[in-house]
Amino acid sequence: MLKHLLSPVQAGSISLKNRVVMAPLTRSRAGQPGDIPRALNVEYYSQRASAGLIVTEASQISRQGQGYAWTPGIYTDAQEAGWKNVVDAVHEKGGRIAIQLWHVGRISHTLLQENGAAPVSASAITAANSQCFVVQEDGTPANVQTSEPRALSIEELPGIVEQYRQATRRAKRAGFDLVEVHAANGYLLQQFMSTNSNVRTDAYGGSLENRARLTIEVVDAAIAEIGADRVGVRLSPNFVAHGIADTEADAMALYLAKAFNERGIAYIHIAEPDWAGGPELTQAFREQLRATFKGTLICCGGYSAAEAEELIASGLSDSVAFGRSYIANPDLVERFAAGASLNKADRNTFYGGEEKGYTDYPFM
Ligand code: FNR
Repeated sequence: MLKHLLSPVQAGSISLKNRVVMAPLTRSRAGQPGDIPRALNVEYYSQRASAGLIVTEASQISRQGQGYAWTPGIYTDAQEAGWKNVVDAVHEKGGRIAIQLWHVGRISHTLLQENGAAPVSASAITAANSQCFVVQEDGTPANVQTSEPRALSIEELPGIVEQYRQATRRAKRAGFDLVEVHAANGYLLQQFMSTNSNVRTDAYGGSLENRARLTIEVVDAAIAEIGADRVGVRLSPNFVAHGIADTEADAMALYLAKAFNERGIAYIHIAEPDWAGGPELTQAFREQLRATFKGTLICCGGYSAAEAEELIASGLSDSVAFGRSYIANPDLVERFAAGASLNKADRNTFYGGEEKGYTDYPFM
């Protein structure tokens, strides 16, 4: 009875066999040293290839863009080759896959940065009550308060855009169907968007248009590399963690949606408030977003199959992404189709480790 959720849909030029999207999920299991996707990651993603679209875990586009130990990168030849193995395995099973491109900005620590440098952000404002994950000097892993960032100079911003451009080029070479620009969850691009994390006085700060500028330049760079019909963007307008408190969040999301619609990008992926807190999206916002953006809309955050079906039937979203359900159910689509019960996800094995809690969740 999930006739909408299980029906095909387009995302730009890519045909998706159903509307069940695997949400981006950081699992902190990249091969070390070098943060390189390895055989275990190939198995994990290929187990989930019946999703209409897999969005990979966030993948840093540079060393500077990393905020957590053991997350995969997409900026070295070895990382690109590792991702190609993932993509090939997913394609072999008839799946489609996007890579989420990530620069964490200030959600990082000097221990993760080259030569112990400060992380970078829109402004030199530390994210309040915000932790990142590091391997300490004595070799033990720990969650630690993020370091004080330095503000990027205006001369450095083309270099940031270039990081996204290079990562998109590598993603295309690795065979990804799409790239998803991670402009959500309080990372670098949202640090530029949000009124409380950006106090710049140049062309990238102040007005809403200025605070949106870097994100639009990044999206344009991705479009130039792979084509608008293969670019998606993740936004989280109501996100409140990692020190984000934006007084113009809905207006920003709608402004960006209009800009992305003009460019004809493949999709916008909305991360709705979940366990991290934040107000719910309003019905008015959902309707304005739908009216503004004609491409594919994906919503994510706490959906059951029945709720996803209802949202798609209402016309307010084209697809729904599932996070924790996908951690625990490699055959989520088949379970939905059969009306079967779902395995429960174990929080203790979300981040780090090997196959336990990663590739050993049972199929039906
Ligand atoms: C996440 N989420 C997330 N979001 C994102 O944009 N990039 C990422 O790398 C991650 N990583 C991540 C790891 C883990 C362990 C969890 C649980 C979540 C958020 C995720 O994509 C999704 O928005 C939420 O999980 C809400 O959806 P569900 O789980 O309620 O279906």
